[in-house]
Amino acid sequence: MGMKKVGVIGCGLMGRGICEVSARAGYDVVVSEVNQQLLEQGLAAINTSVTTAVRREKATEADKTATLARIRGTLNTEDFEDCDLVVEAATENLELKKNVFAHLDKICLKHTILATNTSCLSVIDMAAVTQRQDKVLGMHFFNPVPVMRLLELVKTIATSDETLDAARAFGQSVGKTVVTAPDIPGFIVNRLLMPFLLEAVRLLESGMATKEDIDQAIVLGLNHPMGPLRLSDFVGLDTAYFICNAMYEELKDPRFAPPILLRKMVAAGQFGRKSRKGFYDYGISPHSSGDASKN
Ligand code: 3HC
Repeated sequence: MGMKKVGVIGCGLMGRGICEVSARAGYDVVVSEVNQQLLEQGLAAINTSVTTAVRREKATEADKTATLARIRGTLNTEDFEDCDLVVEAATENLELKKNVFAHLDKICLKHTILATNTSCLSVIDMAAVTQRQDKVLGMHFFNPVPVMRLLELVKTIATSDETLDAARAFGQSVGKTVVTAPDIPGFIVNRLLMPFLLEAVRLLESGMATKEDIDQAIVLGLNHPMGPLRLSDFVGLDTAYFICNAMYEELKDPRFAPPILLRKMVAAGQFGRKSRKGFYDYGISPHSSGDASKN
């Protein structure tokens, strides 16, 4: 069955990006937030991002108007009842996500696919609270969603091939290249990314290399768009800390244990770009170096 209507839970950084690419691809989108202020902030950010896309000649004015017209904000999750797909992009908290999945399972149509954008939590734990484990999977998008080309689909031991095929078709329709990842902590990307970021923090912590040299070595030596410390600031040090802790808890593998420096920076409220201070200072605006990162 073709998908027409997509629900997105959460209009934060990831949720709003998922709304934007879905609406750009022609889906009717309904997005929820926990209060009016967060909803308005999220919708305003989508407007800014689509405006940037027009300015960068990635979309026309007509695309912008049509995209924004397809997105409806709500504070009422009952509005998801007639969605063909719902992508949960709420706070990274397993209990909260399980509550969301149990609720969606009750109100959504029988055929609705339920997906989570979690970056590291166990997808089968969310599926297990529903009566439709075969229709639950992970859809892990990357920040900034309108720019990053990958969508990681996370197949649990219960996800059906039919669900995976439908999710793959959806991902391709919103312009992403799709890979299938196992339901293990960190899936593919964060499984490899986290030890890399953490090792950069440990190298800095050891005093053997400067942050500038670490980042420049990776940008110029490996052609990465950002070095690992700047990327950590971009991801959010609180987010990186949450992910590596969650992975360490599951795997008990010291590669994922957070370095003391990271813990102390998070304790100090140094979250990277979002708090204007992390490994680098971001001055008055946390979003001063590039349009893509404003999204
Ligand atoms: N809509 C559509 N396209 C846009 C856009 C928008 N709103 N804003 C910018 N673009 C396009 C630009 O036109 C440009 O396209 P071009 O290459 O064809 O000219 C491209 O996006 C890049 O834009 P900018 O020139 O403004 O930005 P930069 O070149 O400075 O790149 C960046 C910014 C994309 C953030 C780049 O630094 C980068 O790729 N960094 C790494 C990001 C990354 O690794 N993200 C993943 C993080 S991990 C994650 O998300 C997983 C989680 O679980 C932790």
